[in-house]
Amino acid sequence: MNSNDLLPPGLTVHGDPDDIAAHFAAVALLQPVRRVPAGVVCAPRAAPDLARSGRGACPLVITPLAEPPAWPDPPSVTAGNWFIRSPVHIGAPHGFHDLVQVPGEGFGAWPHPTTLLCLRALDRLPRAPAIDLGCGSGLLSQAWAATHGPITGVDLDARAIAHTTASLAHARPVHRVEVCHAPIARVLPTATQPVVLANVPPVTHREIATAMTPAARIIVISGVRTRDAGQTLTVYARLGFGVSSSSDADGWGCWVLVRG
Ligand SMILES: C[S@@+](CC[C@H](N)C(=O)[O-])C[C@H]1O[C@@H](n2cnc3c(N)ncnc32)[C@H](O)[C@@H]1O
Repeated sequence: MNSNDLLPPGLTVHGDPDDIAAHFAAVALLQPVRRVPAGVVCAPRAAPDLARSGRGACPLVITPLAEPPAWPDPPSVTAGNWFIRSPVHIGAPHGFHDLVQVPGEGFGAWPHPTTLLCLRALDRLPRAPAIDLGCGSGLLSQAWAATHGPITGVDLDARAIAHTTASLAHARPVHRVEVCHAPIARVLPTATQPVVLANVPPVTHREIATAMTPAARIIVISGVRTRDAGQTLTVYARLGFGVSSSSDADGWGCWVLVRG
């Protein structure tokens, strides 16, 4: 039995725009690629395991289609009110914000649990300029620019910078995103942004702490296992940052740190 068994090539999820929006966490997993008068057409074989979950969770009427309507890549998923999708998927319905990813090598084809934790943490932060240290495929930069303000995404990996830039061309967030191909240590000491996003490994957190700008007031950190978090939090505590809130998933943690 292969992973496409029991899934038709295409599906129509029936409902008006309010129905679709109300059940969008499930509809997103079915890989929605086209709005039609009856509802939305989906391409479930682009992500069979996700689509099976979506079909199980979706209470709306679903009818099969004989042909695949598209092959969107990467697959779509929601995280809170974020709709993470490819350029081929439909745009986000009311109540959701689009985050667009082209296929690429920035940070895997699928949002990591730490990225999802950071996205959820953004809701509680003030509108202000920010810097995204180790921006990877640029999801956090894109999210910040869609809802909070201008941001600079920094990464030393040219593939990450290319992925971030290509995705931004499709996403077009309301605020400006500047992309900077450089090591954090070169950029951070003179950064003027009060908000820092840092979803990076522990070794990079130590580099960040060493280079920390005096302008930073709020840091969202992740990329650290909850069981190993003590050392990283201590490094930031020495700079005057205390934990304001925290969350975790699959053994990974995310902390919002504030000072002053
Ligand atoms: C975990 S991935 C990025 C995740 C991304 N922030 C997100 O939330 O989806 C970490 C990124 O940090 C970058 N990175 C690691 N150390 C760095 C350094 N010293 N300077 C700049 N970028 C760095 C890597 O190239 C990689 O793209």
